Amino acid sequence: MQNKSLIILDDHHQERNDGSEDVIQGLTSDPKSIPCRFFYDDRGSQLFEKICDLPEYYPTRIEAWILNQYAAEIAQFTGNCTLVELGSGSSTKTRILLDAYAKNINANYVNSDNVSSCKYLPIDISDGILKTSVLQLQIHYPQLEICGLSGTYDQALTYLASNLEEPQMIFFLGSSMGNFNQQESDHFFQKISQTLKSGDYFLLGVDLQKSPEILEAAYNDSQGVTADFNLNMLAHLNWYFQGNFDLNLFQHQAIYNQAEAQIEMYLHCQQAHTVSLDILNLEIPFRSGESILTEISRKFDLPTIQAQLLAHRLQPLKVWTDPKNWFALILSQA
Ligand SMILES: C[S@@+](CC[C@H](N)C(=O)[O-])C[C@H]1O[C@@H](n2cnc3c(N)ncnc32)[C@H](O)[C@@H]1O
Repeated sequence: MQNKSLIILDDHHQERNDGSEDVIQGLTSDPKSIPCRFFYDDRGSQLFEKICDLPEYYPTRIEAWILNQYAAEIAQFTGNCTLVELGSGSSTKTRILLDAYAKNINANYVNSDNVSSCKYLPIDISDGILKTSVLQLQIHYPQLEICGLSGTYDQALTYLASNLEEPQMIFFLGSSMGNFNQQESDHFFQKISQTLKSGDYFLLGVDLQKSPEILEAAYNDSQGVTADFNLNMLAHLNWYFQGNFDLNLFQHQAIYNQAEAQIEMYLHCQQAHTVSLDILNLEIPFRSGESILTEISRKFDLPTIQAQLLAHRLQPLKVWTDPKNWFALILSQA
């Protein structure tokens, strides 16, 4: 692998076909939807950081608690290896894991594969936050080789499959897995399984099922930060596709769909009007009261998700949870 600070996997800003086809399909369907990756421009990434600090948004705090309790055990399980993080964002929580691996390196720990060093490869579609966090982490962790990969999960996994030889652990925190529907989950696990070599590890953070009141409060916070985050997706589309969404004509709502065990985040149109996205040559009529689905966030039960991992040749080895069983980290081995 090249020795760089940042690798642009593909110029995904040029790669309008991917993103644009999904946007056209979502906005010309009934009901309408927008792919949730469009949450994340620079402002979207900053707003997500604010969400992580909200009192109602428990997932970040609880996952960090689990990591604080068990990072040393995770590092012990895998030994030194290349740490690949999908959707790393600011890598704030990741520092808990990196501390555990850095400690082993400082103690000159050599694992059974004779590996005494570690790389950290954060992957994100949001360039700004990725570049900033790579620069900060390089200063903080001189003992780790750190290189950011700018691109989508799919691009990164394809790249890693043919460019990474050493033992690795891919990890996917924040329950971002919950944003995939069942078909997307199957595709994702299959891709992970194809990327990992036998003996490699996969660490997955999942949000577990709990009362609808707790879940709905987490996605409808009292300060309105999640509402700003949701609406910012329209500003992102305006910038990316030269559009004219009027953010004042849409309202945020998140509901828990108990039958599907998922939070659904919507933007409700307040008044009939037409929006254009010039670059896509698209005119989108909206009815008053019509909704755009912007995100699903599935909530899991442990036996089901473990069975799905196993079905993709990812053998669950260990599960760590918090005392209330609200969140779980699952370590699997390929
Ligand atoms: C919910 S945030 C989670 C951030 C961090 N991992 C955490 O647990 O707090 C999702 C992150 O994944 C990135 N992301 C979303 N969709 C992506 C995609 N298709 N490919 C690569 N990164 C993506 C976003 O830019 C964002 O930083």
